[in-house]
Amino acid sequence: MASLHPRTQLSKESVFSHMSRLAAQHGAINLGQGFPSNPPPNFLLEAARRAIGTVDQYTPPIGLPRLREAIAEDLAVVPENVVVTAGGTEALHALAESLYGPGDEVVMFEPYFDVYIPQTRIAGAEPVLVPMRLTDRWEVDLPALERAIGVRTQALLLTSPYNPTGSVFSHAEAEQIVALARKHDLWIISDEVYDELYFNQPPIKLRELAPERVFTVGSAGKRLEATGWRIGWIVTPPGLAPEVAGMRQWSSFCSAAPLQAAVAEALPAARKEGFYQHLRESYGQRKDLLEQGLKSLGLKTFSPAGTYFLTAILPDLEAETLLRDGQVAVIPGSAFYIHNPAPRGLFRFAFCKPASEIERAIELLQTYLERWRLS
Ligand SMILES: Cc1ncc(COP(=O)(O)O)c(C=O)c1O
Repeated sequence: MASLHPRTQLSKESVFSHMSRLAAQHGAINLGQGFPSNPPPNFLLEAARRAIGTVDQYTPPIGLPRLREAIAEDLAVVPENVVVTAGGTEALHALAESLYGPGDEVVMFEPYFDVYIPQTRIAGAEPVLVPMRLTDRWEVDLPALERAIGVRTQALLLTSPYNPTGSVFSHAEAEQIVALARKHDLWIISDEVYDELYFNQPPIKLRELAPERVFTVGSAGKRLEATGWRIGWIVTPPGLAPEVAGMRQWSSFCSAAPLQAAVAEALPAARKEGFYQHLRESYGQRKDLLEQGLKSLGLKTFSPAGTYFLTAILPDLEAETLLRDGQVAVIPGSAFYIHNPAPRGLFRFAFCKPASEIERAIELLQTYLERWRLS
């Protein structure tokens, strides 16, 4: 009997979808999967309504020209280096297909964002994981990063702001990472989908330090609170965009045309209306609410510098039991580790949810912890 390729072992349901499904089944508060609970801004929705019926056919695989121009303007790059993709996920996939293959290694940090491992393997390459140090905060281990680089290393796959840790590279770290990439002649894939979601200083854009070797990944879904629209982008080093776009044409060919047109209008509107500032303020308040709530329960938290995720230690709890018995869905740290053990009791909380749900989750957690401590 014919069978599917062994590669389909990679097709397992992600822990994020799994926890969301269980949360819906059990009526639990879902602080697991990272999708906003509020609708996208009106200026985006209205632009999409205008575009449907007007911009409806295939666009070039590299993207609708006006969207490439809007992205370039927003990021202060040239449109020739911009490729539009179906979200950050397809951008990362197109880069995996374009940059490495069998026999190559790709160095990344652990905990890692879930798509990095299967995408690297689908391209035939091997992920090499360097653990982040967890003290009072998440720290990059630069000597360990250099030790992980070998003759087969083709690329560094980096994230800042970082999901799940919420950490961002300091200027010194970014410079040292770029120096390593230059010394070993490596590509850098810089996943910057949370580039506008920070709480202190704006994160460093790695391409500004090494435009000749950095591919930046971005996401309109993350920026404009429309994760289901699947519009993202890649900024490539000079001259490489046509080949990368040529690779993505074999998967989705192009992203949804009217939504590309809507995002082209929305990117300048978001700047003009101070939308990202509003986003940062709103998420900053919800981050504080969650963090203070968890601290008031005596739990150890690691304050994020960006993203809408917060990591915390809930010793000896099990995520599915907490969901079933405590009615709160969170992601277990083990979901972000494959080579090294996850720190004991590590969990990721998403705070892109209404304040009322965060407050309720803290109450439920309190009740659950009280019961659990007495048992
Ligand atoms: C670090 C990181 N990169 C990429 C993505 C994927 O972005 P998109 O939803 O645009 O595919 C996510 C989504 O959660 C993410 O957290």
